[in-house]
Amino acid sequence: MSDTTYPPSADFAANAHIDAAKYTEMYDASINDPAAFWGEHGKRIDWIKPFTKVKDVSFELGKVSINWYSDGTLNVAANCIDRHLATRANQTAIIWEPDSPDEEALHITYQELHDNTCRMANVLKDLGVTRGDRVVIYLPMIPEAAYAMLACARIGAIHSIVFAGFSPDALGARINGSDAKVVITADEAPRGGRKTALKSNTDAALLHCDDRVKNLVVKRTGGQTTWTERDYDCTALMAAASTECAPEEMGAEDPLFILYTSGSTGQPKGVVHTSGGYLVYASMTQELVFDYHEGDIYWCTADVGWVTGHSYIVYGPLANGATTVMFEGVPTYPDASRFWQVCEKHKVNQFYTAPTALRALMGQGNSFVEKCDLSDLKVLGTVGEPINPEAWNWYNEVVGKGNCPIVDTWWQTETGGHLMTPLPGATATKPGSCTTPFFGVQPVILDPTSGVEIHDTEAEGVLCIKDSWPGQMRTVYGDHERFEKTYFSDYKGYYFTGDGCRRDADGYYWITGRVDDVINVSGHRMGTAEVESALVAHAQVAEAAVVGYPHDIKGQGIYAYVTLMNGVEPTEELRKELEKWVRTEIGPIAKPDLIQWAPGLPKTRSGKIMRRILRKIAEDDFGALGDTSTLAEPAVVDDLIENRMNRG
Ligand code: WT7
Repeated sequence: MSDTTYPPSADFAANAHIDAAKYTEMYDASINDPAAFWGEHGKRIDWIKPFTKVKDVSFELGKVSINWYSDGTLNVAANCIDRHLATRANQTAIIWEPDSPDEEALHITYQELHDNTCRMANVLKDLGVTRGDRVVIYLPMIPEAAYAMLACARIGAIHSIVFAGFSPDALGARINGSDAKVVITADEAPRGGRKTALKSNTDAALLHCDDRVKNLVVKRTGGQTTWTERDYDCTALMAAASTECAPEEMGAEDPLFILYTSGSTGQPKGVVHTSGGYLVYASMTQELVFDYHEGDIYWCTADVGWVTGHSYIVYGPLANGATTVMFEGVPTYPDASRFWQVCEKHKVNQFYTAPTALRALMGQGNSFVEKCDLSDLKVLGTVGEPINPEAWNWYNEVVGKGNCPIVDTWWQTETGGHLMTPLPGATATKPGSCTTPFFGVQPVILDPTSGVEIHDTEAEGVLCIKDSWPGQMRTVYGDHERFEKTYFSDYKGYYFTGDGCRRDADGYYWITGRVDDVINVSGHRMGTAEVESALVAHAQVAEAAVVGYPHDIKGQGIYAYVTLMNGVEPTEELRKELEKWVRTEIGPIAKPDLIQWAPGLPKTRSGKIMRRILRKIAEDDFGALGDTSTLAEPAVVDDLIENRMNRG
């Protein structure tokens, strides 16, 4: 870890929304009187009926309840579209860059965004979708994804986006989990020059769903031929629909969306975000963290299937009247200069991506970057996992030419927006540190065993947050008890993040990784339990244990220990088959990188798998396995070490 610091340049600070003095003043105000602070900043969005109450929160186990602006009413889509029309009707809202550079980019104005969102909203209404209904969105990164999100928001329906890389099984589980009325999909998703058959994936998923679920199909490639009784042609219906649709008046605490995310146990849970506080928080962080100014072109490379796409491609920037780039493709197609070519082509000012992408591109050499004109770049952001100093330095020097502050934003699906991050005109950065909290956020470090808060400046332990912020998740869809248990039961009175963290002598925060059984693969969050349950669903697998191990590009790779059924021979074919099996059960991102055949797994005498040992072996660091005396059969460990896959 590096402790070199990079202070913001005086030039940058002079023109920034927030400089160092302002940060301190506003941060103090936000902690001393949160209701006054957030009452003031709540006015950054338009309310139909203004709120009179700002904050009403309890983190107390058994009665966890989180409410912001609860008596105000608003419409999120009207905030992202209609309120800009008087001044920005002809300004570009979304620049859409397709997978192939040979296909033309689209510049969608706020007026067109309005018209298309209303068309989509009317199509949904005609299919019987009303306030509070759930709509699953399974789309490529095409403008219709934004229209669909905003159309739901406009009519008060709750969207639940499923990343287009997920399998039919995962899609089906999410359709059923939220009891969705409609799925919105496309014929095919082009990505990196290949096509994923989304429509046939959806057909497969819907085999396990209620017959009444309707399927609205957007034409993307024209590559779809079969239609079933529940399918509707979204493109044709939108063309025929009205461009007017009155926005519903929604309560601040009405759900805006559900987004499934992985946890340490069980199947993914539906994180619920509501309307008012979420939008205030997403828009404020988008403006201040990226120092977005009028006329800037802003690009977040995420997919709308993840929370980053929700908050920082669609809701945050559009609420601010920004121009946001939406990219259908991948960083390495047609070659490793694509990101930088898109930056040059659209004159991108703020660029926001994941460390895993930077590491992959860094490995391809600098010429891919250097041949592009990146002189419009002002701020660079990263998200999703800790960034290693090598990648940080490369980003700073090769991409930013030493002139662009880097914002390493730490946050989670659950937090709705950035919780700890530099502000580019205010914070001196240190490569690898997410630095200091955003306004209103009180990070604390607790001793993992005693749960006691460590007040010393220098501290290491588990990261919790002391009080609420407007973008916080409100519940787990349909299971408030699971919400309380997951986030509020281990450390009473705090929101538990699941991350480990160190605070240095300057009070800077360094995320050290998850402390639970969640791994972070290429910035994608994965529950080891999910991969295990997929593996054991295979007829020839008796038992499986999955852990993470350090991976140069992905951050963490997936290491699976698999015990086969009695009499089954471990073969290369079977290994391939299991990889394929997990891809089909969950999706390509869950495919194990390494599978080790394990005649037995290290267990305590009470039968609990000792993951600590499995982690060490996977990390090729088995010198200090710690106490193995409680193992039922210590010999299995020697076999696992002997046959380990990840030899240094
Ligand atoms: C987990 C949340 C936030 C949107 C994308 C991921 C890790 C996230 C950072 C960062 C170190 C980070 C944490 C967190 N993480 N950002 N800047 N530095 N770690 O959202 O899928 O909900 O994952 O990602 O471990 O808990 P997510």
